Amino acid sequence: MTRVYADHGATTGTDPRVLDAMLPFFSEKYGNASSVHQWGQEARAAVDVAREQIAAGIDAKPAEIVFTSGATESDNFAIFGAAYANEANGRHVVTSSIEHHALLESCRFLESRGWEVTYLPVDSHGVVDPDDVRRSIRKDTVLVSIMHANNEIGTIERITEIGRIAKEQGVLMHTDAAQTLGIVPVHVDDLSVDLLSMSAHKRYGPKGVGALYIRKGANVSRVQHGGSHERNRRGGTENVPAIVGFGKAMQIAFASMGEEGPRLARMRDALVDVFSRIDGAHLNGHPSRRLPGNVNFSFEGVDSESILMALDFQGVAASSGSACTSGSLEPSHVLAAIGRPPHIAAGTIRLSLGRWNTLEDVAYLSRVVPEVITSLRGASRPVSPARG
Ligand SMILES: Cc1ncc(COP(=O)(O)O)c(C=O)c1O
Repeated sequence: MTRVYADHGATTGTDPRVLDAMLPFFSEKYGNASSVHQWGQEARAAVDVAREQIAAGIDAKPAEIVFTSGATESDNFAIFGAAYANEANGRHVVTSSIEHHALLESCRFLESRGWEVTYLPVDSHGVVDPDDVRRSIRKDTVLVSIMHANNEIGTIERITEIGRIAKEQGVLMHTDAAQTLGIVPVHVDDLSVDLLSMSAHKRYGPKGVGALYIRKGANVSRVQHGGSHERNRRGGTENVPAIVGFGKAMQIAFASMGEEGPRLARMRDALVDVFSRIDGAHLNGHPSRRLPGNVNFSFEGVDSESILMALDFQGVAASSGSACTSGSLEPSHVLAAIGRPPHIAAGTIRLSLGRWNTLEDVAYLSRVVPEVITSLRGASRPVSPARG
């Protein structure tokens, strides 16, 4: 049976070269990177190599990379670290309405403690207007946090302009680059950011490891206490195999993204072209400023769950852009923010292509997705909800 994994936005398989690099650090090279003996120093050296590999790809200094357990922790670290350190200057944060839950829920927690948060709207393509950012910065604003690219609809935000605005106003700037790192250029100076969240498992590295870039001199508190690891920025014994894998994954990604990005974009555009011809299909996200592998569509008259189940039956892994994992029928906050009405958002799927997808996979998806939509519509007449 044909099997096509098209859910790389959720996670990716670990590249065999990454796994090879990691394996010795589970068995013979198991030292604690904080120990003074040879085992420890061997582990320390490997962590330092990974730090250099990651820093080199984003034009940062190795000392500006703090390893974490992934982008969720990095987002929490950025929000609370910036908020706690700068509380004396104000208690206001600016973000967007389409951020990942890791960011939004951190902001909601701040609000529960008396902070004010401005959630900026986006246009129908999911783009935050830099002028809105400028207008929303106040005397008491301490942080602007806008994601580099949205994980659901793939829209790439205008971070360079937004970062410059934050810098002019003397406000810290954070971006969540979990979806862009290693597939589109992420350079901290070009983006003008002080803080940047990263994750390994979105780019063929292991799960449970990531990093926060913290610009030298940025006023950010530690949020996890109990150890002087990571230059006193975070506690906890370093996950050496995972960090080694993260470094290797990024080394490979930075070297291959010049070829891989355009290849994925060509496959993405071919699918967008085919799906756009299905009746009642709506592309979500920006037509061109979008992640290379991201294809997100709402199909009228069908529901996401049925599409996903039917695709799974055909060997295709995709994900839903409309229902949250708890099984709630609430449409996604991202689709609501771009103005998709609930009855259209209810039929949304995201296909996200990656390193090992082939043109044969694209041909299979081009055939199977329209077939599934047609057959589900046949099974659930009437296809269109009443409008009026
Ligand atoms: C934009 C974005 N931020 C944060 C995360 C969370 O990343 P992690 O799984 O590394 O905690 C994800 C992944 O789901 C994401 O896409």
